[in-house]
Amino acid sequence: MSNRLKVTPNDLSAFWMPFTANRQFKQAPRMFVSAKDMHYTTSDGRKVLDGTAGLWCVNAGHCRPKITEAIQQQAAELDYAPAFQMGHPIVFELANRLVDVAPKGMDHVFFTNSGSESVETALKMAIAYHRARGEGARTRLIGRERGYHGVNFGGISVGGIVTNRKMFGTLLGGVDHMPHTHLPEKNAFSKGVPEHGAELANELERIVALHDASTIAAVIVEPVAGSTGVILPPKGYLQKLREICTKHGILLIFDEVITGFGRLGAPFAADYFGVTPDIMTTAKGVSNGVIPMGAVFVKKEIHDAFMTGPEHMIEFFHGYTYSGNPIACAAALGTLDTYKDEGLLTRGEELAPYWEDALHSLKGEPHVIDIRNIGLIGAIELAPIAGSPTKRAFSAFVKAFERGALIRTTGDIIALSPPLIITKGQINELIDHVREVLRSID
Ligand SMILES: Cc1ncc(COP(=O)(O)O)c(C=O)c1O
Repeated sequence: MSNRLKVTPNDLSAFWMPFTANRQFKQAPRMFVSAKDMHYTTSDGRKVLDGTAGLWCVNAGHCRPKITEAIQQQAAELDYAPAFQMGHPIVFELANRLVDVAPKGMDHVFFTNSGSESVETALKMAIAYHRARGEGARTRLIGRERGYHGVNFGGISVGGIVTNRKMFGTLLGGVDHMPHTHLPEKNAFSKGVPEHGAELANELERIVALHDASTIAAVIVEPVAGSTGVILPPKGYLQKLREICTKHGILLIFDEVITGFGRLGAPFAADYFGVTPDIMTTAKGVSNGVIPMGAVFVKKEIHDAFMTGPEHMIEFFHGYTYSGNPIACAAALGTLDTYKDEGLLTRGEELAPYWEDALHSLKGEPHVIDIRNIGLIGAIELAPIAGSPTKRAFSAFVKAFERGALIRTTGDIIALSPPLIITKGQINELIDHVREVLRSID
């Protein structure tokens, strides 16, 4: 490794960091310089156990050989090919391989470069689909409170995280929101999906009654909401949403950017819950986070509705310069190979009970007011410090990093989502770090 990559630069001012407390960070920087499997190495040479798969994306663990080699070879062979009106073989191969692992019925794939772009793509597809079928009045989009669908204007409009919306003026019109499903008074310390709250899906009927189904294009939800601090769908909730959407001809979009590619112990949340959406947005795990990539899966009927009109005409006026970039495709193929060789898309299923027990052993530790889990996802909600929300969880994050574990916090919630290669011993280690951290913070 070149020395340039190993040391903290003296001047950190030029880089405006995303979703970061810049001034605080620059006073006490936290730098990773390398990674392997379950660990990062910091600029001062410490190993840090990755409890969050980077940002919920490094599902196969770090610097995996098949992915690294695929990228190296592809970079030397075909670095870039225009994404519009030209093709290259591996993007077609990748689409076929993705359809093979996707829930049955998700027959076509549109490539993007991130979760945010996948969401914008899905929303546009939904509206254009209805228009293509002569239902051009169906333009409304329904999201959910506390939902996270990336940071672009469509995504923050259907999203429901206040801090991500309030600074940015007028968002998309014609958007409504269902209530979130976080009911701690009824469901605190549930193991897996909670018992109470499926009836909240009926709020969609109320919204349909208000606007009329003929004006609504799509409903978008995260099957398990991640960024807001892990909110699970109550038992039967997603099934109800599916039924209501089908009844009214509304498309159901699952935003599987974090649940896709094995996080719940099944390839996708749609498989886990036995509910198939019409459109599914993914990113992150599709390429193990190594090269930016997103993929939007759609049912045949949706794709086919666009394939009309003169054959020389572009059917969907949408796409990105880097849609299906060859090196990203190579990374994704190397990722799929690694998932397959090691059974990672379903490994979470056998580890989930162990993970659940380890996580719930934190009940009774200082500050803990709820624990939630599903697949290889865990959340530990802390009581906020009066008058200083988020401060306690942020202290936990910094303390954990100093002890040797990467955790993630959002609000006063610690969210855990380790790479799917984690061992039982490493689960113990991660939870012990969290336990010690909770005992050490105010
Ligand atoms: C459900 C969901 N959708 C969309 C996104 C946005 O993805 P990206 O940061 O790649 O744009 C995220 C990112 O965490 C996500 O969790």
